Amino acid sequence: MSSTSVPVPTNSVFKEDILKGKVAFVTGGGSGICKGMAEALARHGAKVTIVSRTLSKLEAAAKEMRASTGGEFFAVAADVRDPKQVQDAVDKHMAHYGQLDILVNGAAGNFLSLSQHLSFNAFRSVIEIDLIGTFNTTKCCFPHLKASKGSIINVTATLQYNGTIMQSHACAAKAGVDAMSLVWANEWGPLGIRSNCIAPGPIANTVGMSKLAPEGEAVRIPLGRMGEIRDIEHATLYLASEAASYVTGQVLIVDGANWLQPGLA
Ligand code: HXC
Repeated sequence: MSSTSVPVPTNSVFKEDILKGKVAFVTGGGSGICKGMAEALARHGAKVTIVSRTLSKLEAAAKEMRASTGGEFFAVAADVRDPKQVQDAVDKHMAHYGQLDILVNGAAGNFLSLSQHLSFNAFRSVIEIDLIGTFNTTKCCFPHLKASKGSIINVTATLQYNGTIMQSHACAAKAGVDAMSLVWANEWGPLGIRSNCIAPGPIANTVGMSKLAPEGEAVRIPLGRMGEIRDIEHATLYLASEAASYVTGQVLIVDGANWLQPGLA
């Protein structure tokens, strides 16, 4: 451990203080991949707000991550589909920390369904969480990101690149997120805001995998293994840090080249 007093795992490939002085707002940060992202940001010096629908789950996650990282976590409940709840959460974040440098748009919902079986409300629900939720959150965070010349990281996916069956709702939403992220890079680059996406592939031990993926997928991945949450943490640290200060408008696919395989969906 160094003089920053932030405990860091011995296996971290990044300097422990690369995000010292930064403050992050992470939707979906109470569980799964986005919890890993929140934890990694804190482990490397950032203070973090985690946001999702259920405060009790968030508070439990915050407590656990305070213990594992020694970092600061603030838990705020909001449904990203509701602009008012998002604005309230951002206001609470600003009242608590006074600063917002890194926005991670991670809140998402998904399930498998052929398009003909998808109810109108089911399609709309996923679009509202993944796409509209990303817009709502980013719009509410924008003034603070402008002030800090901050960085946006949108968690997208690879399923939209090859028409994955039973995923018309998520494909439409994530393609929209990819596109919005490019627009933000163009619109807000002159303000010093960077906007990038991380597209995780199959990540072991996540809700996404248990809901969506067939057994034995790893054997078809060129790199020969499932992804780990740690792989997404590394991508996050890169994009959030000064190492990526000239990188914007990118989608960083972190999937072992899984999506390139013909016939895979
Ligand atoms: C068909 C379904 C369904 C299913 C829900 N619905 N689950 N339809 N198959 N398995 C329908 C419901 O019947 C309802 O339509 C509508 O969707 C809304 O469902 P609700 O449960 O009322 O809504 P809500 O509570 O808001 O739930 C939203 C949700 C849910 C997206 C449907 O699954 C959710 O909140 N998930 C969050 C957790 C999650 O999924 N995490 C995994 C993310 S993985 P009707 O017509 O009946 O009203 C991920 C990664 C993607 O995003 C990439 C991986 C490679």
